Amino acid sequence: MGLMFKHLLYAVLCFALTHDLVHAQDKQSGFISLDCGLPSDSSYSEPTTSINYISDAPFIDSGVSGVSRTIEAQYKATLQLQYARVRSFPQGIRNCYRVNITGGTKYLIRATFLYGNYDGLNKLPKFDLHLGPNFWDSVTPAFASDATINELIHTPSLNHIQVCLLNKGSGTPFISALEFRPLTNTTYVTISGSLALAWRLDAASTSNRSYRYDDDVFDRRWSRYNSDDWTKINTPRTVEGGNYQVPTIVMNTASTPKNANSSIDIPWEPPDNTTQYYIYMHFAELQQLKTNQFRAFNINLNGQYWYGPIVPPNFSTYTVYTQSALTPAANNRFSILKTENSTLPPIINAIEFYTLKDFSQLETDQDDVVAITNIKSTYGVKKNWEGDPCAPQEYIWEGLNCSSNGFDPPRITSLNLSSSGLIGEITSYISNLVPLQSLDLSNNSLTGSIPEFLSKLPNLKVLNLEKNMLNGSVPAELVERSRSGRLTLSVGENKNLCAEISCEKKKINVLIPAIASVGGVFIFLLAAVAIFMGLKRGRKPRASNNQNDSFESKRRQFTYSEILKITNNFQTILGKGGFGTVYHGYADGIQVAVKMLSPSSDQGYKEFQTEVKLLMRVHHRNLTSLVGYCIERTTMALIYEYMVNGNLESHLLGDDSNANVLSWQGRLQIAMDASQGLEYLHNGCRPPIVHRDVKTTNILLAENFQAKLADFGLSRVFPTDGGTHMSTAVVGTPGYLDPEYHITGRLNEKSDVYSFGVALLQIITSRPVISRAAHENTHVSRWVSSMLGIGDVKSIVDPRLCGDFKVNSAWKAVELAMDCISETSTERPNMSEVVTRLKECLAAEIARENESHLTGSKEFYAINVTTPLNPSAR
Ligand SMILES: *[C@@H]1O[C@H](CO)[C@@H](O)[C@H](O)[C@H]1NC(C)=O
Ligand SMILES: *[C@@H]1O[C@H](CO)[C@@H](O)[C@H](O)[C@H]1NC(C)=O
Repeated sequence: MGLMFKHLLYAVLCFALTHDLVHAQDKQSGFISLDCGLPSDSSYSEPTTSINYISDAPFIDSGVSGVSRTIEAQYKATLQLQYARVRSFPQGIRNCYRVNITGGTKYLIRATFLYGNYDGLNKLPKFDLHLGPNFWDSVTPAFASDATINELIHTPSLNHIQVCLLNKGSGTPFISALEFRPLTNTTYVTISGSLALAWRLDAASTSNRSYRYDDDVFDRRWSRYNSDDWTKINTPRTVEGGNYQVPTIVMNTASTPKNANSSIDIPWEPPDNTTQYYIYMHFAELQQLKTNQFRAFNINLNGQYWYGPIVPPNFSTYTVYTQSALTPAANNRFSILKTENSTLPPIINAIEFYTLKDFSQLETDQDDVVAITNIKSTYGVKKNWEGDPCAPQEYIWEGLNCSSNGFDPPRITSLNLSSSGLIGEITSYISNLVPLQSLDLSNNSLTGSIPEFLSKLPNLKVLNLEKNMLNGSVPAELVERSRSGRLTLSVGENKNLCAEISCEKKKINVLIPAIASVGGVFIFLLAAVAIFMGLKRGRKPRASNNQNDSFESKRRQFTYSEILKITNNFQTILGKGGFGTVYHGYADGIQVAVKMLSPSSDQGYKEFQTEVKLLMRVHHRNLTSLVGYCIERTTMALIYEYMVNGNLESHLLGDDSNANVLSWQGRLQIAMDASQGLEYLHNGCRPPIVHRDVKTTNILLAENFQAKLADFGLSRVFPTDGGTHMSTAVVGTPGYLDPEYHITGRLNEKSDVYSFGVALLQIITSRPVISRAAHENTHVSRWVSSMLGIGDVKSIVDPRLCGDFKVNSAWKAVELAMDCISETSTERPNMSEVVTRLKECLAAEIARENESHLTGSKEFYAINVTTPLNPSAR
């Protein structure tokens, strides 16, 4: 019978245990408990708490997975299992865990660090802990055997939490455990910010250990709190936990002062005198009071009444908490003092202190995060791309730039994956980085064609795809954006890439918009026909474009007999210039211009050869390409690419008085092209090259009216080690010649700026450099100066434009030109500034054009694309 009863008892006990375990697991719902360093796919239940721990491996947000290590045996013995291992992160500056949770839910987040001399160095590291992009705390363990615990109460807005360890150069970051516990949203409410645990204390605890799960359903850790001035009271009865669900085992003990008339004094030292804090005090009456007994007390803060009176409820929790953050004072002392009519001393059961954390740094826009994360995994990017891409600023991912105004989530505006060993095609994930302004994928091994979606990125201003193995053609929209100055496009040194718009069958390149002052279907039709014919003409060069590429690679020295063949025995003269005659020709089926240098040129052959070889290495889309040269006995020739639309001056001065007038925008575009070519000679070449002969006849126009600077072939190579200027024989064209250089003979880049200024005045006014009226020669700059007195920019700009331009844009251009022709070179802008200011002019004009689109006004292209103009001597 007795035995039978025993069996029955066992059965009941076993049932109770199993039932308890199942129940415990239920209650852990929403818990995420990571044992850091635990091998992947492992899990266990810690015997003392029954908390189920899993490996942290799947939550490490990186390719760098850290290193799993074990603490020394001497520390292990008395500890819970999750402390036995750590994961350390010897690589990278920032390493993060990313854990999916339910956004909008309040969580207790706990990171635990127990060093245990896991690395055998006996040296406690110091490092920082971040929550997403926000600094959480510094981790500074004091003893190898003690756990450093950082606990936070935080409501994430997104469906994930990132916890990051940051190496600050004071030892390798490591972590023992990372735990997430959902809380009740109506508890621990702050006006703003999150709560970092300072102390969570169980007054009069009878245990040496701290309580946590499953005594506490939320797995809060309660530590023992006693004082010599206090006595303990307790009850075996259950104490109802109240709204904060404080565990019975915490609430059923309380402290009370030994001297009934004394207060319970709780001093509190905040970390500094600015950090605000929140406190939570939990009270419950643990004694069955007699009718003549009464317990009531007030709480003072630094001697001032703060809250009360409080009559603690019987065996039930009453929580006093701050509704808004408290600001620390010199001393921070809470005193709990019985009221006058109270017959019993005050009590305290439990108290929690939290400091306020202002996690105001927003995470990067999540669409951008997803896109960049996909890009990272597509290419297997081998950079320390960890944690939030844009924030905090000092840990922004290498190669990114982001916008941030402090109010909206940061956005990725620039991506630089140059020289990153990328292979495969250009990933379409890039198209999801909508705010992207600059994309640099140069110097990789990217294959395939340039995708159309790049032209759909609305803000893209810089696109560099140089030095890849891309093929096909550049999407027309990109080329057009580049032509209009809205995009800096670099596609050079690719395998089989055609960078010309003529590769595109369906797109018609209509670059130079001029506003027709008269509307009407008839004129529109005329223009359409002109464009169509232009397209037809464009076919042949299209075919030749591919050859152009192969031709480029064959840049070489030609023999005299080859020159004869190319020019068909010097049949067609394009023009005559100071250095010699220019002939039209065909080399390998493409049109070229052959400049024969007069034998009287006193330049030595050797010098010529050295210089030409150097110039053949100068490439820029706004410089005419030197295709080859010939040096044989007395013959010196330079072979250039042929520029279908001739020189700029012929378009400006327009000897044919037809109605084809370059629009204002077209002029600015051409000026900008030319300025970029010149800027490249000055700043992009080593040694820098001074052109020495900038003028409108040396600005040539390609088929699509892209402007290229010509004739830099005979510029002196400017030595870098010889100071900023050098003496040289004064050369140049009258009217364009820098007067300072003319007087001193001292040449520097600013001489080109002067000449460019004169050219710009011509572009603005369509007037010859020197107009010969009656008995007087008037320089264009003098004429503009005299008109400036009138104060009407419309009288300065080419009257054939009929005022069809943005006045502001025109003023800017005139001012820039006048600055360029300042008497003293130091007052002139450099070419980089010129480029920038021209961009502004262009932007102002484009803005106007866009406005006029909105109001529905018609515009089309009045330039005559059917008649190629002969280029003149170069
Ligand atoms: C005790 O005094 C307080 C004021 O200090 C008063 O609010 C309360 O009603 C009194 N209680 C009793 C039982 O007299
Ligand atoms: C990209 O980075 C490389 C070197 O890291 C730099 O030379 C290049 O200028 C950068 N590109 C852009 C567009 O800033």
